[in-house]
Amino acid sequence: MTSPRKSRDPKSLRPATQLIHGGSLRSSFEETSEALFLTQGYLYDTMELAEARFKGEDPGFIYSRFANPTVSMFEKRMALLEGAEAARATASGMAAVTAALMGQLRAGDHVVAAKALFGSCLYVVEDLLPRFGVESTLVDGIDLDAWRAAIRPNTKTAFLESPTNPTMEIIDIGAIARIVHDAGATLVVDNVFATPLFQHPLNLGADCVVYSATKHIDGQGRVLGGVILASEKFIADNIHNFLRQTGPSLSPFNAWTLLKSLETLPVRVAAQAASAARLADFLAGRPEVTRVIYPGRDDHPQAELARRQMSGGGTLLSFEVVGGKASAFRMANALSIIGISNNLGDAKSLITHPETTTHQRLKPEQRAALGIGPGLLRLSVGLEDVDDLIEDLAQALDKAAANPRRAAE
Ligand SMILES: Cc1ncc(COP(=O)(O)O)c(C=O)c1O
Repeated sequence: MTSPRKSRDPKSLRPATQLIHGGSLRSSFEETSEALFLTQGYLYDTMELAEARFKGEDPGFIYSRFANPTVSMFEKRMALLEGAEAARATASGMAAVTAALMGQLRAGDHVVAAKALFGSCLYVVEDLLPRFGVESTLVDGIDLDAWRAAIRPNTKTAFLESPTNPTMEIIDIGAIARIVHDAGATLVVDNVFATPLFQHPLNLGADCVVYSATKHIDGQGRVLGGVILASEKFIADNIHNFLRQTGPSLSPFNAWTLLKSLETLPVRVAAQAASAARLADFLAGRPEVTRVIYPGRDDHPQAELARRQMSGGGTLLSFEVVGGKASAFRMANALSIIGISNNLGDAKSLITHPETTTHQRLKPEQRAALGIGPGLLRLSVGLEDVDDLIEDLAQALDKAAANPRRAAE
């Protein structure tokens, strides 16, 4: 395996070029498209070579739970995009979150997290970690004093998502990083909603970034995957052995799919974000819609922070319709292009009713505190022609307003 001939230092290239050429390893066949190494193991020419590899004196591959050439290409390309020293791929976004937290923690440690977290992340922080003697405190992510007050002498790490799901709150990553670093703790950021193109948590002060690569990175609704990005030291101290020994490895097939997806990520996400901005403006002008939450709009409650922290508004927006759950259901049921799904970041536009799906597990008072009301819908904007999406939303809003009795169907 070699790096392609005539290659420039990939760090000197711009992101769109890095995402096409970065991290490539070429076999002796000189293939143009990166090879899929669907193999569990590797052969050693001699026993001496096997010994050297196990001693770490020879850099080759040993076993695909530890590392695999196709997975390594994906990791290297992600590290270039994120500007991280190191990356480790995982089988899913949740494997990345779990490893990024558990890899750092020991019994007796404490974690602070923003309470607006993806449901499974909330499970890890609230239910799983305490079973191993790690206490956690959940705070209102936008309240800096609450973060300061929650820190304890044994706080080891802090965890947040921004923008949050589904109410698109923006958490000040730089400010939280300063608070937790002053206390000698680390900050892990789940950057799924912002995507690697619009927000760079490591530059803002975070120690570790995690992605569900299942979302925009695949972007076409096919494979699950995750990735952890951080400094070499953070990965060596906290992640490397945890992943090798516990085994949530990314399959080479999924790594290959994700690697090829990275080639088109900037084009896809830019188009989706442009459409999201158009749809947000369209929805804001509709009488049936009481609230549109999109980080790229000037009326976002934290528009100034969003502009400072993100270079684009993202591909997701939420909006509230008059008439609560019945009206929201009627509207979503009337859509003909936009699909009903809890997934996001796909080429296909998808709509979700958080109260009854992704956030159903929460108590009503928890949902109320997060601003998740019965009329709230979250829209993940895809790659369809934006005028078709506008027409689809318009006819669905018309039908929902005209036929209130279909709600019960
Ligand atoms: C913000 C966020 N983090 C993490 C995850 C978990 O990712 P995965 O489904 O790939 O495990 C998701 C999945 O929806 C998510 O939306």
